[in-house]
Amino acid sequence: MKRFIVPFLYLLLSSLYISAQSASPVKDSNPDSVFLSLAPTPPMGWNSWNIFGCNINEKIIMEIADAMVSSGMKEAGYQYIVLDDCWQVGRDDNNNIVVDSVNFPKGIKFLADYIHSKGLKIGIYSCAGSLTCQRRPGSRGHQFQDAQQYAKWGIDYLKYDWCYNEEQNAKAAYKTMSDALKACGRPIVFSICEWGENEPWKWAKGIGHLWRITPDIRDCYNCKFDWGGVGVLNIIDVMADLHEYAGPGHWNDAEMLEVGNGGMTKDEYITHFSMWCMLAAPLMAGNDLRNMSDETVEILTNKEVIRVNQDKLGKQAIRFMDMGKQEIWAKPLENGEIALCFLNRNDSEWDLDYNWTKNTMYFAREIDLRKKEYSVRDLWAHKNIGTTQTNLKYKIPKHGVLMVRLSPIN
Ligand code: GLA
Repeated sequence: MKRFIVPFLYLLLSSLYISAQSASPVKDSNPDSVFLSLAPTPPMGWNSWNIFGCNINEKIIMEIADAMVSSGMKEAGYQYIVLDDCWQVGRDDNNNIVVDSVNFPKGIKFLADYIHSKGLKIGIYSCAGSLTCQRRPGSRGHQFQDAQQYAKWGIDYLKYDWCYNEEQNAKAAYKTMSDALKACGRPIVFSICEWGENEPWKWAKGIGHLWRITPDIRDCYNCKFDWGGVGVLNIIDVMADLHEYAGPGHWNDAEMLEVGNGGMTKDEYITHFSMWCMLAAPLMAGNDLRNMSDETVEILTNKEVIRVNQDKLGKQAIRFMDMGKQEIWAKPLENGEIALCFLNRNDSEWDLDYNWTKNTMYFAREIDLRKKEYSVRDLWAHKNIGTTQTNLKYKIPKHGVLMVRLSPIN
């Protein structure tokens, strides 16, 4: 059995930097400080691409906003409604971006006002290249003009793609749009989408608030396509090496969610959602919120699991134990708590019998399972299932997880 224990130095050091890194909203009005304070926890919302592709219009977006509220998603923390590619059709004589007036007859300002009236925020999409991936006009050469336009419309979030980039330098291209957003007079979250091609985790902190790390997600548990497109496990494996780059205001973007789109089993979707929460990944739902099964709502609005994602420390989980097809992931939380996810990649059940103290989980000075007792709470069953003094016994289904929260007793 392959058994590999990741050194704990990262977690030890991270515990020392907790207070310094926690980004509470900055009070001053300097545009740079405001920009940096915009995403203290991973952004949560919905994006049109995974389910609708280019087939978006005003009516759908308004209905999605309504459903975000009526389904309980807003209450669970989802905020942004993001229009992905295909809302734009050209530029006018003054090079202002032109909105598709057939599908968006009342324009983007109208949509922004509607979304804001629901207590939600609106996001939009553009591209650092001259064209978007669907060959609509990109922002190259018009970054400041476009940012001003977004501000006038009331946009709160920009996803910025990398098609037709014409071999620009990625850092420079994204910095230009970042500078444009900082200068536009409105706080706008900046989502960098260059698919991890230029290792944005090494340069994008301070330029954007989140950055994609892989090609596009596909609605599958374990798949990888030559033409680009990856499943849940493939993304998790890329995220595993990037934990040191995530923190308040700057997140590794594991891609939009596929929960509810039909390509995976319930256990696989639970794994998908649990792991995105463990990984402090942005939670952008990608399904049709107007037609959700109870099962989908239950997954997307699990507040105990979302609370792990939104924990103020902003730590991304590390793969604490890798036993081949069975893994244990750990995410330090505020107040000395810790979230753990037992991930069963096997095609058969994992009959877990876990001895906490024997397996010496020592994460940081204040989290030492040999010295302190912790209660163990199952975040999907919503019940306490013992303490760290007794073995954790659980049957984890194939491709499933057991996700727990450890809280110090006393
Ligand atoms: C790229 C992005 C996707 C989506 C499409 C839109 O593929 O990675 O997330 O925005 O473009 O064309």
